[in-house]
Amino acid sequence: MANKSFTTSFGRQIPFVEGYLEAHARNPWENDWSDQEAEGFMTSPMSYSSFRKDLVEYAVARKFLHSLGVKGPWGSALEIGGREAVVARLIKGEGTEYVETIDLKPYYKRLSTPLFKTRMRDVFAPKVRGIRVPRRLAGLANPKYYDWAQSQAREFGLQPDRNFGWDIKMVREPDLGTYTIGDVNTYDFKRKYDFVSAMGCLDYFDPEHLFKRVSSILNPGGIFVFLFEYWWFPVNTTDVVGHFPYVTQRLTRDDFIRYAAENFSAKEADWLLKRRDYYHQGNVLVPKQYCDIADKNDLYVLGEHRCMTLRNYFRRTSMTPYFLDQFEDSKLKDVMEDIKQFRGDVSLADLKTGFMMMAFEKRGPRKPHVQERIKEVPKLR
Ligand SMILES: C[S@@+](CC[C@H](N)C(=O)[O-])C[C@H]1O[C@@H](n2cnc3c(N)ncnc32)[C@H](O)[C@@H]1O
Repeated sequence: MANKSFTTSFGRQIPFVEGYLEAHARNPWENDWSDQEAEGFMTSPMSYSSFRKDLVEYAVARKFLHSLGVKGPWGSALEIGGREAVVARLIKGEGTEYVETIDLKPYYKRLSTPLFKTRMRDVFAPKVRGIRVPRRLAGLANPKYYDWAQSQAREFGLQPDRNFGWDIKMVREPDLGTYTIGDVNTYDFKRKYDFVSAMGCLDYFDPEHLFKRVSSILNPGGIFVFLFEYWWFPVNTTDVVGHFPYVTQRLTRDDFIRYAAENFSAKEADWLLKRRDYYHQGNVLVPKQYCDIADKNDLYVLGEHRCMTLRNYFRRTSMTPYFLDQFEDSKLKDVMEDIKQFRGDVSLADLKTGFMMMAFEKRGPRKPHVQERIKEVPKLR
């Protein structure tokens, strides 16, 4: 008989929420998950919707940096896991001299400079009955023309506003710059950078190792920024969905293995564990820990920003934290209670965060004595 609950090693009985698993069109165990793209993918042009997503990611991170008083252009910049190099081209177009992208495969083939320009025009001046019209004017005639450009911002917990992010101006040719095909964990970088970004890919890496690498290639005063999908969201990038909300977050690894064995076939259970473990190679963190790792590596934290999912915005799961918390059998308070059994550092805010952004500055060499500067400190009061 099918199970109705799962009992954790801490003796908590978590009731299954009927229909929760089935409500998600995920768990495609029949297609063994992998990073293999379909044949022809590498040569097919980048779609408008993926382009728009990358553009908005950049705009969100840029706005975050501006709020911290950090502004380009830079002398040199590196974008990690930059795929089609949308972010690299935007950084370049905004005036940075040397721009490099590193990724495992030559995704840049999907986005030529002319296509980049066309896609930018499609965002900023969409075609209305075959004629290009500035987006706001087009929007006056039909809201869809700014809605589709700005709705993407909602994914990052921002209520779209008319001016959101669209002050990006290309002051220099947005060409590809350098595209390095390589693994950022092992690649032998020949230079240092003033700016390193990692958009939507931090989950692939072991943060301890990555932060050390990034620190080693940043110039003193250089900036490291990332935006990525946060582990503590009900359905995170592992795509794992269980019989109750927050299944990956709510169980220890051992409990997760037992839960999978009790409720799925051996093949499915294998897939689930593989998916669960890919994220940071199984080492899951909260912001304080990213800061501690950064600090060990001479990266001084400048700020963090949680992209809290809007109440009415659906992505990855139509059952957002807000939605779940309304029901008796899926209260976030209970999820927290379970997590507390094995971790004391997770908060309710973590359970509601869809994306996380953080920015760091590479420290210069330590100065010998603070006394030197104390004399210059203005007296307050
Ligand atoms: C989910 S995609 C994100 C792409 C894009 N930056 C975005 O925000 O949509 C992650 C990218 O990281 C790349 N990647 C994963 N591991 C990597 C590694 N060790 N070194 C370099 N790139 C890596 C993948 O090839 C992939 O293109």
